[in-house]
Amino acid sequence: MRKNAIIATILLLLATISVACRSSAVSETEQESTSEKKIVTVGFSQLGAESDWRSANTESMLTALSQENGFNLIYKNGQQKQANQVTALRMFIQQEVDYIVLAPETETGWDFVLGEAKEAGIPVIIVDRRVAVDDSNLYTCWVGSDFALEGKKLTAWINAFTELKGIDPGEVHIAHIQGTLGSTAQIGRTRGLNDAVKKYGWDLLGAKNGDFTEVRGREVMAEFLREYNNINVVYCENDNEAIGAIDAIEAAGKRVGPDIANGEIMVVSFDGINTDAQQYLKEGKISCIAECNPLHGPRVQALIKTLEAGETPEKYNYVQETLFSSVPEIKVVTVDESEGTKEYQVEIKR
Ligand code: AHR
Repeated sequence: MRKNAIIATILLLLATISVACRSSAVSETEQESTSEKKIVTVGFSQLGAESDWRSANTESMLTALSQENGFNLIYKNGQQKQANQVTALRMFIQQEVDYIVLAPETETGWDFVLGEAKEAGIPVIIVDRRVAVDDSNLYTCWVGSDFALEGKKLTAWINAFTELKGIDPGEVHIAHIQGTLGSTAQIGRTRGLNDAVKKYGWDLLGAKNGDFTEVRGREVMAEFLREYNNINVVYCENDNEAIGAIDAIEAAGKRVGPDIANGEIMVVSFDGINTDAQQYLKEGKISCIAECNPLHGPRVQALIKTLEAGETPEKYNYVQETLFSSVPEIKVVTVDESEGTKEYQVEIKR
């Protein structure tokens, strides 16, 4: 009898151990699949839809932060108004999103609302343009282009071109169509031109705001042509402005192209994503484009994954970019940088 009782107790113990092992194995698997399935809620405030670059950027973000990729994305288009973006950020905070992604229109005016996000403990990723805030801890990290470098590369190309053609710097008469004033893209590209004007001694006729749009590019180019009859270079701060400017130049009965010694007006610009601009580049209507890469979606996705893994990403994440041109002779440009001079390749498109 006693022997039977001992055997029964042993069997009971073994059964209990096996159930315990099974249930801990189940709970680990359950845990794994729960963490695999974790949906990350992201509020994305896009500044607007002014250009083809912007459309490509929005598309890239929506694709990368999709439901299939494990995200619940709340997307808000700021319609080119900072006030709308601030409202969107406040809404994201109220909704207690896991992350805020902000593509800011202009650099200033963000301290307050980013402070609110910080207080709510929501990490903020800045994408494309930068924010100028007193405390850089108000955002977690940034990913985008080096706009000042883009400006340096494009002006180095103009210099290489005029030297190649033997054109005196004083004979380079530039109309400057700027992007949205106060945006990092405008600030960097404008600085690039202004520094080069001083360095090489070019004749800068004037600067007008084209707001990164085709319509404004056309309008301000028409104004330039009414005011000056010696323009031979148009420095547009994006491709949409360039397309508008080309329309205006042709509508005024003038020719667009790199043969400025024979009366053509040379157009240069930034971006390289717009298919019309790519075509114009091949035709020589745009002579050089400094690439600005809009495909930030996968980059933002990677930053969020890093943060989700409890790691700290780099604070500033620069995208590598090139120059596109249909002028075959210039294959490389040299740019002054803080560490000395650096060479950049030019991709020839024909
Ligand atoms: O901030 C990037 C700039 O904004 C792009 O060059 C321009 O096309 C866009 O609107």
